[in-house]
Amino acid sequence: NKTENQMLVIFGASGDLTARKLVPAIVSLAQDGYLPENFVVLGASRTPYSDGEFRKKVVLESKYLDEKMENGQEKFLAEFSDKLFYHELSDDQSSDYAPLKKRMESLNSDYGTDANYMFYLSTPPSAYGPISKNLYNQGLTEEDQGWRRLIVEKPFGYSLKSAKELNEKLHRYFKESQIFRIDHYLGKETVQNLLVTRFANSIFEPLWNRHYIHHVEITSAESGGIGKRGKYYDKSGALRDMFQSHLLQIVALIIMEPPLSADAEEIRNEKLKALKSLRIMTDPEVLRRDTIRAQYISATVDGKEVKGYRQEENVDPESKTETYAALKFYVDNWRWADVPFYVRTAKRMPTKVTEAVIHFKTPHHQIFKDSSMHSKDNKLIIRIQPDEGILIKFGVKVPGQGFKVERANLDFYYSSLTDSHVMEAYERLLLDAMQGDATLYARADEVEAAWAFVDPILKYWKDSNQNVYGYSAGAWGPKNADELLEGHHTWRNPGE
Ligand code: BG6
Repeated sequence: NKTENQMLVIFGASGDLTARKLVPAIVSLAQDGYLPENFVVLGASRTPYSDGEFRKKVVLESKYLDEKMENGQEKFLAEFSDKLFYHELSDDQSSDYAPLKKRMESLNSDYGTDANYMFYLSTPPSAYGPISKNLYNQGLTEEDQGWRRLIVEKPFGYSLKSAKELNEKLHRYFKESQIFRIDHYLGKETVQNLLVTRFANSIFEPLWNRHYIHHVEITSAESGGIGKRGKYYDKSGALRDMFQSHLLQIVALIIMEPPLSADAEEIRNEKLKALKSLRIMTDPEVLRRDTIRAQYISATVDGKEVKGYRQEENVDPESKTETYAALKFYVDNWRWADVPFYVRTAKRMPTKVTEAVIHFKTPHHQIFKDSSMHSKDNKLIIRIQPDEGILIKFGVKVPGQGFKVERANLDFYYSSLTDSHVMEAYERLLLDAMQGDATLYARADEVEAAWAFVDPILKYWKDSNQNVYGYSAGAWGPKNADELLEGHHTWRNPGE
């Protein structure tokens, strides 16, 4: 694919994301030769930086590029930083946008970026509307000369209502085809590989349905707490922060029907259908039984005292915001009828890991009684991070007399495929947007369908005052979460 000459304009450029993720991603793209010949970055935000100060902050003295510096890349980075510029602006001050336009036009003519403008909104969502409107009023969304694209960060809305309002606002100023909603999980190789595992093989797909699959389990655990993000997190919680976006995207890729082709619209149409087939929980009894929320409480982890959630900075000491969420739900369609899905996500768990486990049904008739497998099902484990790979668990005969069956592993590690640099999520997604490929971006209707599923749960938790359980920091969540899995199943705790 061709990457045309262009200018990347980052709003909220003085913020953490620009230094931590965006600029390192662009540096890697530059190192790998993916940037077009003529390319500049214009950072825009309220902090009054000069071009030089901005370059120092995000490139020359950035701790996020340390590794690259050590590799003897100083000269490369110095040249690279010459492509970065800064413009002071208040997102919502309409009078600031004529000067911005002027600056863009002069950079465009000096650096030959062919009036192709990519706007990246790394700001709170409340600024998306005002920025888009101001750009529109300056004629900067019109594609009369080059193309104009808009990348927006998550969270995309706070509820179904606010997501719809946000979509309506953006659609006043940009066409849907110009809008790229980022979900960085879609930029992860292993998440994309879900499509390949399912649709480039003939050995999994025939089994990928209610006749052979007993249940599906997804765990997305983080060992870290909420860090300095209390202000954001306390208003968000695990269900909004992780489940509505990243985890439902993974679910959609697991449950979707085969798309006609790998074309962006075909894949997104199928993902939308998948998300619309999630059974929306409305019955209070079901909501009480099948949804669990919890918060981490202080504990000693690896010899260190770790704060509880309610003691974290900028968190309400009586907060009910969940740092752990576990759900059981169903997918109402032909393929998945009656197959339960168990999904959990949390901060402050024992380790950082994301994996999806497809549990197959046990054989209809057990011939081998002498089985030491504590659970007899075959499992396909998709390790999304870390140790990216795929693991199949199956029964084998133990050598010797009789038919003793034991569990064996067929284990594939991504790292065995290549020594070369695997693109980071942000790198891959930025490059796709620069090339106009929206396959790995969430479409308006997908985001709304995901909110439609999550909204009633959030509402129930709030209105019913659903119990907020505690779990010790560094543990696999509250004990009650096992009850979700009913009887003979337990959560698979990766690494245990
Ligand atoms: C972000 C969430 O979207 O994803 C964070 O806001 C979370 O709370 C992060 O920590 C997890 O991403 P990753 O790539 O580290 O698994």
